[in-house]
Amino acid sequence: MLRQILSPNHVVGEPNANPLEPLAQTVGARPRVFVVRRLPSPIEAQLRARYDVELNPTDETYSLDRLVAAARDFDAIIPTVVDNVPEAVFAATPLRIRIVANYGVGFDRIDLNAARAHRVVVTNTPGVLTEDTADLTMMLILAAARRASEAERQLRAGSWEGWRPTHMLGTRVHGATLGIVGFGRIGAAVARRAYCGFGMRVLFVNPSTPDARAVADAAAERCDSLEALLAQGDFVSLHAPARTDTRRMLDATRIASMRRGAILVNTARGDLVDDNALAVALEQGSLSAAGLDVFEREPTVSPRLLALENVVLLPHIGSATTSSRVAMGERVLANLDAFFRGVAPPDRLA
Ligand code: DGY
Repeated sequence: MLRQILSPNHVVGEPNANPLEPLAQTVGARPRVFVVRRLPSPIEAQLRARYDVELNPTDETYSLDRLVAAARDFDAIIPTVVDNVPEAVFAATPLRIRIVANYGVGFDRIDLNAARAHRVVVTNTPGVLTEDTADLTMMLILAAARRASEAERQLRAGSWEGWRPTHMLGTRVHGATLGIVGFGRIGAAVARRAYCGFGMRVLFVNPSTPDARAVADAAAERCDSLEALLAQGDFVSLHAPARTDTRRMLDATRIASMRRGAILVNTARGDLVDDNALAVALEQGSLSAAGLDVFEREPTVSPRLLALENVVLLPHIGSATTSSRVAMGERVLANLDAFFRGVAPPDRLA
């Protein structure tokens, strides 16, 4: 491992002319890396081996002040998808960080414009959690349709009275129409499972040209508008990023335009849905069920949703397998290692 110091052209506290300018000088201390959350132990071990790292063994939630202080004292920060990295972090003086290597795909809590303005590189970890998140999406489609959580709650409460023809009737998944909102990696992986595994008809909307092979693999049909998709989907699954233009894309009006008895699944971001409007639709029965892994104000969950039997609620575990979480850490390491070698990190966002 090279021993590295800041580039001689970099004046601490001033933005670098070139944020990718090699840091690889051959003497001095190793880059200092600040880790915002506890990470899987093989990843923490590799970070310790390669960097002068400050870990978070108690997994406490840090204040903004702590992150601002870290921006002054460290060369890199590793936040996760739930940590806010606002302008104040990039405006810290003197600014020492040169890279924010996000652990996760979603980067809606990082102020990319501020990062660019202060010439701080930002990276994320795409690709490695696709299959696990798609599996969990199918699980929610099935669990919501077949009332799995409600049925288990009944059994555990000791109120199951035995098999009866009218007991716990749900909705058939096989052959139903699934509308996918956002046909990126995860949306496409869900489409493939739905079509190949469950004989579903797959519709989708996507703002850009989708991967042609992924469309063909699921015989997926593109809809002209979100409204057209909502009008046809027996199931609707969200796979769009959280941005200002997607915030509450499923508001009260759009939820009301869904097919009567449809099922909504969200494994993307809570910001995409008006939780209150969703609760109203579930209470009134215009939607028959929902499966949610993400929420508007995580980790707080709307009491109205919590009170409902016909919604399956999970605590943001889409990527929570050991395989995905280690792979995400390896992407973080790949991005940091490249950056500190002075080459472009593979997953650069800013
Ligand atoms: C991400 O990486 O954005 C996911 O939400 C983590 O599960």
